[in-house]
Amino acid sequence: MTETTATTTSDADLEAHLDATHAARMAGYMDFLRIPSMSGQPAYAPEVRRAAEWLAETLRTIGIEHVEVAETGGHPVVYGDWLHADGAPTVLVYGHYDVQPVDPLDLWTSPPFEPVVDGDRMLARGAADDKGQIHAHAMAAQALLETRGGVPINVKYVFEGEEESGSHNLEVWLGEHREQLAADVAIISDTGFFEGNIPAITVSLRGLMYAQIDVVGSPVDLHSGGFGGAVANPAMALAEIITALKGPDGRIRIPGFYDEVVPLTDAEHASIANLPFDEEAYRIATGVSALVGEAGFSTLERRATRPSLDVNGLWGGFQGDGTKTIIPAHAHAKVSCRLVADQDPAVIFGRLQAYVEAIAPTGVTVTVRDLGGGRPSRTPIDHPVTQAAARALEAVFGRAPVYTREGGSIPVSASFESVLGLPVVLLGFVQPHDNAHAPNEWMDLGNYEKAIRAIVRTFDEIAELRLGGAEQRGAGG
Ligand code: BES
Ligand code: MN
Ligand code: MN
Repeated sequence: MTETTATTTSDADLEAHLDATHAARMAGYMDFLRIPSMSGQPAYAPEVRRAAEWLAETLRTIGIEHVEVAETGGHPVVYGDWLHADGAPTVLVYGHYDVQPVDPLDLWTSPPFEPVVDGDRMLARGAADDKGQIHAHAMAAQALLETRGGVPINVKYVFEGEEESGSHNLEVWLGEHREQLAADVAIISDTGFFEGNIPAITVSLRGLMYAQIDVVGSPVDLHSGGFGGAVANPAMALAEIITALKGPDGRIRIPGFYDEVVPLTDAEHASIANLPFDEEAYRIATGVSALVGEAGFSTLERRATRPSLDVNGLWGGFQGDGTKTIIPAHAHAKVSCRLVADQDPAVIFGRLQAYVEAIAPTGVTVTVRDLGGGRPSRTPIDHPVTQAAARALEAVFGRAPVYTREGGSIPVSASFESVLGLPVVLLGFVQPHDNAHAPNEWMDLGNYEKAIRAIVRTFDEIAELRLGGAEQRGAGG
């Protein structure tokens, strides 16, 4: 199956380079991980910028050109390109250098921004999501430039600094830089492998709608003896509202919620059923006592092909030790929905808001606020670049990839299509139980090292393709 291309002659050079630079590569990776670039916490904005500068400097040192830390109105985008492969396709490579918050800190076995190598794993916030993956891209470019003096294709790097906080400014920035970003295809490296570390190419991502529900009763807490029984309780009102959002069959009860959901075809059902998925192993790895969800769908279908609704946080009233006899003045919930094609986050928010307002119990004031989101996206299995990436994964990891659907969201994926007109290939290398967003996030260092080779190989495979428009849209600068 695996094709022999011109690259085979330089595989030995590549290996020699990667061997010789292993220690420096680990040191760089760890330096990157030491920067606490948490985009969702305003206090860390300078650190997000520091990570952007670090990444920009790394790209410059490698020999990537036109490197800039570009302003977006939010956290900056790191852009850089290498456009000297005349006639070859142009690929836009995307990843994000921002990370999620680290609480609860006491569950980390070592501090989140003091990376440690623990056996086969790099342990730190961002090790997998997504600094490890963009670092692998940088190391692949470095290997190509040092061993061959060039990259076989034209590449434009777009590394975002606010993916983990909703990518609020990226779509506008993309629209303002259409010409600069012209390419044949976008490769997003922010997904991962299938259960058991099976190489995978993701072919769909869910979207997201995120809302906050605030319930207010009285201006201040009330004595539950003096008032209990005579007034509405905001915490109970909130509980009633939340209970009404989903039925015992796992169906979401917001009127119209499923109207735009595109049903799976029989072939799609079959391909999901054929994935080598051990449901019990997944349950154990997840650490739950049972897997539950929407009636009539398998676990794999539920977690990626069906929309979901979850309470992300819930608070109100007395939380301390002991007792306090009050009726809390207010109560709150963060509620989000993962969305599938063709659901639109703004439309779904509107329906949630209308429904919650309609069912709000008497005696409390309920408001529902939109906290943002992103659209779902589907990517083509049969695109030549998807197939090029599949050949590269097979060559490097020794096994043809499976095609999977992921339940997570990467808001820019839909924007690459709608704003830049680019087909998207989701080529990611992390393991499924890598504790992304959780304490003790880790990256499998075998996957990281092989990712560098697989990226090189993917570029070589793409160089063999003749994609329409590459000549005109490629090396402009
Ligand atoms: N890398 C993830 C997306 C992802 C998760 C892809 C799991 C495939 C499998 C990304 O960094 C992420 O966490 N996205 C957020 C987006 C949100 C903040 C808008 C998510 O899915 O919660
Ligand atoms: Mn990510
Ligand atoms: Mn993430």
